[in-house]
Amino acid sequence: MRTLTLVFVLIAASAALDDTADDAPTPLYVRLNDTRVACICQQELASKNVRCACLPAEAKNSSAVGFDCKELPFKIISSLSIDCGNFTLSSEIDLHEMTFRHEHFYPPYHVELIGCRIHFDLLSFGQLIHENVSTHESVELAMFGPIKPRLAAQYTERLEYNTSSFKPSSCKLMSLVLRSCIVVYFPIYLNMKCFNLVNMQLIDTPLNVISVSNMVGAMSLQQFTVSHSNLTEAAENIYDIVLDSLNHYLDDAIANGTVPLRNETDWLVRLKKQYGRFTWQKMLFKASDESTTGGGFTFSFAKRRIRDESAESEKWELIPSQLATLNFSYNRLTKIPNLVSLLGNLRELDLSHNEISSLYDYDMCWPPSYELARCYWFRGPKDSLRKLDLSYNRIPFIGVVSPWFEVNLQYLDLSHNRIKSLNAMAFNNSLLPSSLVELNLDYNWLQSFELASLARLEKLWVRNNDL
Ligand SMILES: *[C@@H]1O[C@H](CO)[C@@H](O)[C@H](O)[C@H]1NC(C)=O
Ligand SMILES: *[C@@H]1O[C@H](CO)[C@@H](O)[C@H](O)[C@H]1NC(C)=O
Ligand SMILES: *[C@@H]1O[C@H](CO)[C@@H](O)[C@H](O)[C@H]1NC(C)=O
Ligand SMILES: *[C@@H]1O[C@H](CO)[C@@H](O)[C@H](O)[C@H]1NC(C)=O
Ligand SMILES: *[C@@H]1O[C@H](CO)[C@@H](O)[C@H](O)[C@H]1NC(C)=O
Ligand SMILES: *[C@@H]1O[C@H](CO)[C@@H](O)[C@H](O)[C@H]1NC(C)=O
Ligand SMILES: *[C@@H]1O[C@H](CO)[C@@H](O)[C@H](O)[C@H]1NC(C)=O
Ligand SMILES: *[C@@H]1O[C@H](CO)[C@@H](O)[C@H](O)[C@H]1NC(C)=O
Ligand SMILES: *[C@@H]1O[C@H](CO)[C@@H](O)[C@H](O)[C@H]1NC(C)=O
Ligand SMILES: *[C@@H]1O[C@H](CO)[C@@H](O)[C@H](O)[C@H]1NC(C)=O
Repeated sequence: MRTLTLVFVLIAASAALDDTADDAPTPLYVRLNDTRVACICQQELASKNVRCACLPAEAKNSSAVGFDCKELPFKIISSLSIDCGNFTLSSEIDLHEMTFRHEHFYPPYHVELIGCRIHFDLLSFGQLIHENVSTHESVELAMFGPIKPRLAAQYTERLEYNTSSFKPSSCKLMSLVLRSCIVVYFPIYLNMKCFNLVNMQLIDTPLNVISVSNMVGAMSLQQFTVSHSNLTEAAENIYDIVLDSLNHYLDDAIANGTVPLRNETDWLVRLKKQYGRFTWQKMLFKASDESTTGGGFTFSFAKRRIRDESAESEKWELIPSQLATLNFSYNRLTKIPNLVSLLGNLRELDLSHNEISSLYDYDMCWPPSYELARCYWFRGPKDSLRKLDLSYNRIPFIGVVSPWFEVNLQYLDLSHNRIKSLNAMAFNNSLLPSSLVELNLDYNWLQSFELASLARLEKLWVRNNDL
């Protein structure tokens, strides 16, 4: 396999100077190693940014309104989109080129690649090591809120880097869309290097597993999509890793006498001494709910960046998970991924078009007695989650145990499932009666339902059931 490097060289810029009589757009040429590719660029009126779409050099588009390329070296290209279906040669695009500044030229803010083969060696953990960046995942305990103190365990990734070799500020990338591309590894390097990257969409990829480290990297995004990818697993072992880390942390902290703020952690320390090891996250949550001092204990993702500029100015930043929209639609997930419970700021979750066959799972639900039974799928985002799309799955029933314990959902889509029964308490035993505004139950197998408790409901769909 040849590795072709996409280099931002404006080889047409000087030629364009002689070409002043021509009204046709002057294309920006980028070089795919030795092959010229023409990019038709247009200036956006409002932002003055330049948007380009690239075609092989021979594919001229004379009807496009062009932008004078000789000004390009002094501008930042807003958006670059390449449809590799147009290239005859088997080329690999080097996204690493888009993470730093070239002479006279910044890489684009938005990149969309369609049907491309991506050169992945430079987007893996190996590249971070090469650039002297070290990453380390661990658990830290933190207190939140001076008024109502709450304890949180944060699964933290520490990113330590040396600004003389690693320059996050030179990566301008804000959004990356890879559609029908050959994605061999998750592009974790981009999540670490490009601090402005907030939107990553991987659509129609051969990736069918997302690892814990990938997910920890992705938490600094605001919007993360892996769809149409036959995803069967998303950080399935997250709680094994997180609990292991918490056990180690507490063993150390108890031995060292460094457990923070005693009153709020008393229950946790007591429980740790009693059990020796935490093996179930639901056990922790249950104990927290029942303790008088530890109310609201939760786990979440966070990131710590340490910029090692010089010995005297070491900079620490603790950044909670930024993920607001998580989209795992059109995959093959069979249950709600546990990792959702660690995403503290999640507002919208799209799990439609999967193979989810139950809202209940022994790992996440705690049913010793029915009045108190609950599932902790949404423990982290319980205060932020508003929209949950579970349409086009295989959910057979909703029982008395609340799958959305303590969640203030406004929009819930359960259409195109196999729901035969809806327990009369299914919604009562939750906050949904005072939060749910829209509920879609179209295309299920319901014979009756009882939704009187949903006092705020404005829209209800129940077409195509067995009513
Ligand atoms: C493409 O460029 C890369 C790096 O600049 C180089 O290593 C590679 O050999 C080039 N490939 C061809 C076919 O010229
Ligand atoms: C040619 O340019 C026009 C105007 O920008 C655009 O709408 C059209 O899609 C382009 N055609 C091709 C083949 O790129
Ligand atoms: C080539 O690019 C044009 C414009 O982006 C697109 O409409 C067309 O479908 C592409 N051709 C192939 C074979 O992908
Ligand atoms: C940072 O990198 C530079 C150049 O690679 C090196 O000289 C310096 O010692 C590094 N600083 C630290 C703290 O590792
Ligand atoms: C990594 O650090 C070592 C030692 O400080 C240095 O020699 C090397 O050049 C650095 N690598 C990069 C890519 O800066
Ligand atoms: C997903 O699986 C189906 C059926 O096995 C296959 O046809 C399709 O190409 C797969 N999609 C991807 C993106 O690999
Ligand atoms: C406990 O003390 C050891 C040795 O001083 C130290 O490495 C570790 O970070 C401490 N752990 C905690 C949680 O305070
Ligand atoms: C901790 O609890 C003790 C006794 O229950 C109380 O006197 C003390 O003020 C509490 N400390 C804090 C920081 O809340
Ligand atoms: C999720 O992705 C699919 C396919 O890419 C898209 O159709 C859908 O609108 C997305 N959902 C959200 C909530 O953005
Ligand atoms: C659920 O709540 C509604 C309204 O508060 C009430 O009318 C209904 O009897 C409750 N259902 C059950 C099974 O308790």
